[in-house]
Amino acid sequence: MKEKMNNRFINLQGGLFTKVTKADVGENAGHLMQQGYTFMSWADPFFPDPSIPDSVKKAMIEEIESGFPAHYTMPMGDRKLREVIAQRLHKRYQIKLDPSRNILITPGSDSGLLYAMMPFLKEGDEVLIPDPSYPSNFLNAKLCGAKDVHVPLYPENGYQFDIKEFEKRLTPNTKMVVITHPNNPTGTVFNKKSIEELCHFIIKNDLILVCDQAFEDHIYDNREMIAPMCIEGMFERTITTFSISKGLGLSGFRVGYIVANDELMDVYYGGTVNVLGATNTLAQKAAIVALEDESILKDYHERLLRRRDLVYDILSSIPHVKAIKPESGILSWIDVSKLGTSAEVASYLLDHAHISVNEGTPYGEQGEGYLRIVHACFLNDDDAVEALQRLKDCLIQLGKEKNI
Ligand SMILES: Cc1ncc(COP(=O)(O)O)c(C=O)c1O
Repeated sequence: MKEKMNNRFINLQGGLFTKVTKADVGENAGHLMQQGYTFMSWADPFFPDPSIPDSVKKAMIEEIESGFPAHYTMPMGDRKLREVIAQRLHKRYQIKLDPSRNILITPGSDSGLLYAMMPFLKEGDEVLIPDPSYPSNFLNAKLCGAKDVHVPLYPENGYQFDIKEFEKRLTPNTKMVVITHPNNPTGTVFNKKSIEELCHFIIKNDLILVCDQAFEDHIYDNREMIAPMCIEGMFERTITTFSISKGLGLSGFRVGYIVANDELMDVYYGGTVNVLGATNTLAQKAAIVALEDESILKDYHERLLRRRDLVYDILSSIPHVKAIKPESGILSWIDVSKLGTSAEVASYLLDHAHISVNEGTPYGEQGEGYLRIVHACFLNDDDAVEALQRLKDCLIQLGKEKNI
């Protein structure tokens, strides 16, 4: 029966029969967790520690007692949640959004990302995607029948955009650009020059932008976070996806949202019941409190900044490893090419330190020789430091075995 499947899907592997390194979410990962391995490969803040903020917990209990979450919300999402999101984005980016026309709640932003791309893409279309970036971006383009065209980003350039690299790959079939901003895995916050030049390129060539801002909540060192949808001429051609998973550490709630202009949004609304369904009612109610209680984000920001600095100190003290200071978020991206390929080093860490990290290659060709480490795992810094110390010792040992 499998051969009857559409070519776009037939080669997908979920990890039931094989070890899936690309996402570390196969059955194998479950077995390793049961055996007590340390997971620094899931972009899930504070995992595996319990971490629902008290105000959110209280609101959820009240909701359950009311009995209301037994029911669907409107497919486009809880009205109050959409209002809170509109206020939040106004405060953050000074953008005026109509909660009835510009915001759609999605079950997590992963589904939102694919959903945002689907109405535009067909066989033969090409999508420009920075490399390295979030693996789903490449896969989603392919699942929609389009070709993922990788646009390399380079460490020498701070992983910012070089518009010439986009221009070189432009063809009459180019329809869309997909970016993750701030970027996963590098943590790069695309600066004003990068964003303005990209937007100019997009407008000039009449393209669509899908911008994933799942990591926008924690930006360090006073960097400016510019949302492309706010650049003149971009709102009508930009679909932005967001999440409460990363910044608010509520990945298990599965709440994301899409922002777009009303013309596009009407189409998205049109397909919501059939394709996405309504997002979990209790989780949406919880998201309202999580977004309104500003003390949560403030507390997490302090923790995550402190963690970033602690981790950077450890990683940058490992011989033969080059650590890049994260500009945002919860991820570290390190160059281990002197010690071996991404796959070799990741597998050595798994076998000898019982630590799971991400190989760099699923993030694109530019990821060879790199590892992604989710340094914001564990609630307490001490647990993370202990794991990183183990990781450091293990890489020192690898260097010795390789005589370097
Ligand atoms: C860049 C990026 N975007 C989106 C997502 C999806 O997050 P969620 O579906 O939990 O909102 C992830 C998850 O790892 C991510 O790394």
